[in-house]
Amino acid sequence: MAGGPGNATGRAKKRVAILISGRGSNMRVLIEAAAAPDYPAEIVGVLSNKPTAEGLEFAAAAGIPTAVHMLRDYPDKEAADDAIDAVLRGWNADLVCLAGFMRILSPGLVGRWQGRILNIHPSLLPLHKGLHTHEQALAAGVAEHGCTVHFVTPGMDEGPAILQAKVPVLSGDTPETLAARVLIAEHATYPRALAMVASGDVTYPASAEPPPHHTPSS
Ligand code: GRF
Repeated sequence: MAGGPGNATGRAKKRVAILISGRGSNMRVLIEAAAAPDYPAEIVGVLSNKPTAEGLEFAAAAGIPTAVHMLRDYPDKEAADDAIDAVLRGWNADLVCLAGFMRILSPGLVGRWQGRILNIHPSLLPLHKGLHTHEQALAAGVAEHGCTVHFVTPGMDEGPAILQAKVPVLSGDTPETLAARVLIAEHATYPRALAMVASGDVTYPASAEPPPHHTPSS
């Protein structure tokens, strides 16, 4: 149920939970964007699967409820994901943003939230799925790289894209320099993509096919 206070347009803000595993820099830009009165979403909770995730401290300092759920505390992944689901429902979340959440959610949980879970991936999907995307881009010799915000479906990094942003690959780039350039693009892109979904401008399956701002280079 959408229960947040209204924004400047008079519509209730969508209640958003963020799932993290570490640094949480994308979480931070979402929290900062959502502080604007006219942003169509509010962040109602941050859940981590790691108690040491640095992002938890930032969220708590911002007055946002936090929770830690570790897979190893449950008999199996289904039980762990049922517990995550209960937390999300307890926060009355309308939408869930994965932001560096380094664990694959079970098809059951994804199915229950399908169309309401977003993820950010550091590549121009469908290129470079999975881990080590910057190494993959350099090895492939592409001229452009970037990030994608997409709806989460059971297939890894496969859901419909909502928004992409490109960055150039420069000669002499290392995975680290490229990652830093992509991260700046991520921080600009995730708040915009969440606003598009929260305001209802993009619905699942994404109306954007091929995704905006991405012209395939081949
Ligand atoms: C980002 O590059 C994101 O695209 C990927 O994991 C990284 C998380 O970074 N899924 P942060 O925790 O948001 O700083």
